[in-house]
Amino acid sequence: DRSLLGLKDLGRDEIESIMNRAAHWEAQHEKLVPVLASKFVANMFFENSTRTRFSFEMAEKRLGAQVLNFTAAASSVEKGESIYDTVRTLESMGIDAGVIRLKPAGVLEELSSKISVPLINAGDGNNEHPTQALLDLYTMKKRFGSLQGLTVSIIGDIKHSRVARSDLWALRKFGAEVKFCAPNNMTAPELEPFARYVTMEEALRSDVVMMLRVQLERHATGMLKSAEEYRAQYGLTEERASKLSKHTLIMHPAPVNRNVEIDDAVVESEQSAIFPQMSNGVPIRMAVMERAMK
Ligand code: CP
Repeated sequence: DRSLLGLKDLGRDEIESIMNRAAHWEAQHEKLVPVLASKFVANMFFENSTRTRFSFEMAEKRLGAQVLNFTAAASSVEKGESIYDTVRTLESMGIDAGVIRLKPAGVLEELSSKISVPLINAGDGNNEHPTQALLDLYTMKKRFGSLQGLTVSIIGDIKHSRVARSDLWALRKFGAEVKFCAPNNMTAPELEPFARYVTMEEALRSDVVMMLRVQLERHATGMLKSAEEYRAQYGLTEERASKLSKHTLIMHPAPVNRNVEIDDAVVESEQSAIFPQMSNGVPIRMAVMERAMK
């Protein structure tokens, strides 16, 4: 299967092979290697995106694919057309693969079973964001050499985070330990068998400290009482960052709420991999698109 719906059910070998191929693409000095020149791909974003959408487009174009960009707000979705009818429409026109971001969790699998071209999950609700986790693991592997035995703390809004879930499923396959730290109303009880909840103090004693964006758009009103209070309790403030071990890597999937979950000065500090994560997203997505269509 050349679709990529999630990492929970993807084998470790497959993940390793995508990362190895990403390393090949990262080392490639030619910006344009048109191995997918005769292929057509539709990027179908039913939810907003900057990084994922443009790094998929960058990756597809670097491989020479013909790219069709679909955004729900400028489409017949606005007239009530369903996700299924939209994807079927693009499939009928001859696309070879589709990249899809959806607001609801749990509809992608069924959709994929009814569509014959490979579908790549670019984030579905709070379920999975597999290419984000692939680029996260790739970033960690580049920094530490191996994922085996790494301690990775994921801090913040676990409840709404598809990134936390995809990272958790993938990191476990490589023998890394995932710890969670979250306010009581942002935990995901169903994940408790797989990751311990720890205090902020313990979370910061890890090889990787991954901060999550407080997903204000997914919150019921009143869930986040005050940004200052959140920062004080769960933010990676300059003061907390200064006490991290020098080998600790700071990560964040972005977009960042500067001075809420992470201080402005920490975002681009020496220990931060936030912008390198974005760079690594391109070769990872090149590997994923090549796998889907070549
Ligand atoms: N990290 C991430 O998925 O960012 P976007 O929502 O901008 O794509």
